[in-house]
Amino acid sequence: MDNEVRAIIDSLEHEKKISADRLRYIFMCDDDDTKEYLFQTARRTAQQNFKNEVYIRGLVEFTNFCKNDCYYCGIRCGNAKADRYRLTEEEILSCCDLGDELGFRTFVLQGGEDPYFTDERICHIVKAIKEKHPSCAVTLSIGEKSYESYKKYYDAGADRYLLRHETADPEHYSKLHPAGMSCENRKKCLHDLKEIGYQVGCGIMVGSPYQTIDNIYEDIVFMQELQPHMIGIGPFIAHKDTPFGNEPDGSVDHTLKLLAVLRLLFPKVLLPATTALGTADVMGREKGILAGANVLMPNLSPTNVRGKYLLYDGKICTGDEAAECNMCLRRRVERIGYHIAEGRGDHPDFTDCYRSF
Ligand code: 5AD
Ligand code: FES
Repeated sequence: MDNEVRAIIDSLEHEKKISADRLRYIFMCDDDDTKEYLFQTARRTAQQNFKNEVYIRGLVEFTNFCKNDCYYCGIRCGNAKADRYRLTEEEILSCCDLGDELGFRTFVLQGGEDPYFTDERICHIVKAIKEKHPSCAVTLSIGEKSYESYKKYYDAGADRYLLRHETADPEHYSKLHPAGMSCENRKKCLHDLKEIGYQVGCGIMVGSPYQTIDNIYEDIVFMQELQPHMIGIGPFIAHKDTPFGNEPDGSVDHTLKLLAVLRLLFPKVLLPATTALGTADVMGREKGILAGANVLMPNLSPTNVRGKYLLYDGKICTGDEAAECNMCLRRRVERIGYHIAEGRGDHPDFTDCYRSF
C-alpha cells in the first residue's frame, strides 16, 4: 500500500477537499492495493447514500444532425460521412412507451444541436411524453440554448438537463472547439439551467486531447462552485472521421480514479458509469459502479438508427434491442451485488419534485 496516497484518500473522504498536487498523486498511483482502497472508500460513500441501488435512464438519441463542429465528436457538422437521421415525435414517443414497459422512469432526449427541433417542437415533445407518462422524469441533452428557451422547456415539463462543460479552462476549451463556441457561454448555460430549477448535469471527457491534470483540477473547482446534481464523465475515444481521429484514447484507470474522487467530493451526486467507459473496457460499467458510480444510461433508440449516433468509434450496444440491453444490464448489475432501482431516481435534494402541469 502507498501510505502517502492512502492518507490523501482518507483526508479526501473526511474533508471533501482536494488540491491539484493530491489529484496528481492519485492519478499517478500504480499500486493495486491503494487503488482498490480508493474504489472501496468511494463505493462505501455511494452505498451510504444510495444503498446498493443503481438508477437507470433510457437514452433516446433523437437526432444526429448538429450545427456545431466540435473537434472530438463524430456527429460534428464537418463530418460528411455521418449518416444523418431524425426521429419523428411519434417515434420518440414509442421509444418512451417501450422504456416505460421495461421499467424506465426517466427518459433522456439527447441530440446534436439540430435547428429543425425548434423550441416549439421540443416543448410539444416534452408535453406529449409527460402526458403519456406522468410519473416519469424527462431529461434534455440538446446543447447550448438561451435562458428563454431553457425556461420554455422547463415550463413544458422538462425536469433535468445534461450539458457537459467539457473543460472549465478557456484555453483548453478553444483547443477542443472551433471559434464561435466559448467556455464562458457553456458555463453561463449551466448557471441559467440551475437558476431555472432544473436538476443539472455537467461533465467532461477524461483524456481529451491537450487535457492536463491541472485542467481536471480546474474542472473540480468549477463543479464545486456549480454544485451540479449529476456529473457525466467518460474516457475520450477517438472517432476516425474527426480532426482528433489519430489522438490516443483516454485512460480507463484515470476515469475510474476520477469517478471515485468525485464520489468522495460529492457524496450525493448522480454519477453515471457511461457507455464510453463500457466501450473502452468490456467491464467498464461494472468497474465504474464499483468505483462509486450509481447511474446507467442504456439506449432506447430504435435499432435502425443506433449505429448512426456515433460520437466515437467502437460504441457498444449498437446492434442490440432495448429489451436486450435492459436484461443484460440487470444481470450485470446483479452479478456485482447491486440492483436496478425502481422509480425516477431524482437527486436526494429533489425528492418531492413532482410538478403538475
Ligand atoms: N469520446 C468520448 N466522449 C465523447 N463525447 C463526444 N465525443 C466524444 C468522444 N469522441 C461526449 C461529450 C459530449 C457527450 C454527449 O459525449 O462529452 O458532451
Ligand atoms: Fe446493451 Fe449489454 S447493455 S447489450
